[in-house]
Amino acid sequence: MAIFLGMQALYYIEPDLQIEIREAICYFGIMLKIDILEPSLKIALQAVQEAGDMIGSNFQNLQDSDIQAKGKNDFVTRVDREAEAIIKRIILNEFPHHQVLGEEGGYTQRKSKTLWVIDPLDGTTNFIQGIPHFAISMALMINGKVVLGLIYDPLSEERFHAIKGQGAFLNNRRIAVSRKKTLRSALGATGFPFKAPQFSEAYASTFRNLLLRCQDMRRCGSAALDLAYTACGRYDFFWEAHLLPWDFMAGKLIIDEAGGRSSDFQGKELKVQTSSVLVANQSLYSKILKILASHFKQVS
Ligand code: IPD
Ligand code: CA
Ligand code: CA
Repeated sequence: MAIFLGMQALYYIEPDLQIEIREAICYFGIMLKIDILEPSLKIALQAVQEAGDMIGSNFQNLQDSDIQAKGKNDFVTRVDREAEAIIKRIILNEFPHHQVLGEEGGYTQRKSKTLWVIDPLDGTTNFIQGIPHFAISMALMINGKVVLGLIYDPLSEERFHAIKGQGAFLNNRRIAVSRKKTLRSALGATGFPFKAPQFSEAYASTFRNLLLRCQDMRRCGSAALDLAYTACGRYDFFWEAHLLPWDFMAGKLIIDEAGGRSSDFQGKELKVQTSSVLVANQSLYSKILKILASHFKQVS
């Protein structure tokens, strides 16, 4: 009882300090039954709900003036920016001491060990074209490690989430990666390097190699949903050569917690600076990594 009340008190302590206390307690052999990251998840859910409602109500309702080019083949809309503003407001209102890295706004000024990495609208091209396949992605990192991941599809209302050490869930039901053992029977997903032409040759030869060995491949236009779908077994693996942390950080944890493997194309752990991403179930991961590493020798 005393331990339970003590743990309840942890809710009111900053998450990064909570983690340190939790680790210290676990070190002394006491397993915690309550989740100290629950308050962060609650706020993240509130943020994706509000931003998701706004995104949904603007879908197929964009004006030309709402769309701007950020670079070659790279677009942003008024809705991406508004969604990021909503999410940031909700997080910083509750956790003013946290730092946020958003795709559209970059880092907030305050430095913190606790960092939210946000893609307010993953699948902007689909959104602009009226294709109903996009999502919000939010990851919470503490001292460089992702501890909470949330991917929300506002149209289907599918919500994928994971907290480190506690499994992965789709609308609160436990999910797991597929059990396929052979590449021959595997359905892969990928993203084209349309913003990084330097990878086009290596990408094309890898694609050919993999396609000839697996069942088929999908390219649906939202890396966050590709990761979430792999975590629940709809795809057996996913690979993309040129991503940014807001595209994959939430998905990385959801995959890991769903029993899958994740790394860059050299087999190294996914970090904020990583660009290439491979995720797969345990049986397929090493087979695919070998192929990717042989085509992309220098890519991390
Ligand atoms: C993009 C999507 C796409 C992937 C691109 C990403 P955005 O994110 O995830 O599937 O192929 O590499 O940049 O720009 O729509 O947030
Ligand atoms: Ca993205
Ligand atoms: Ca985006």
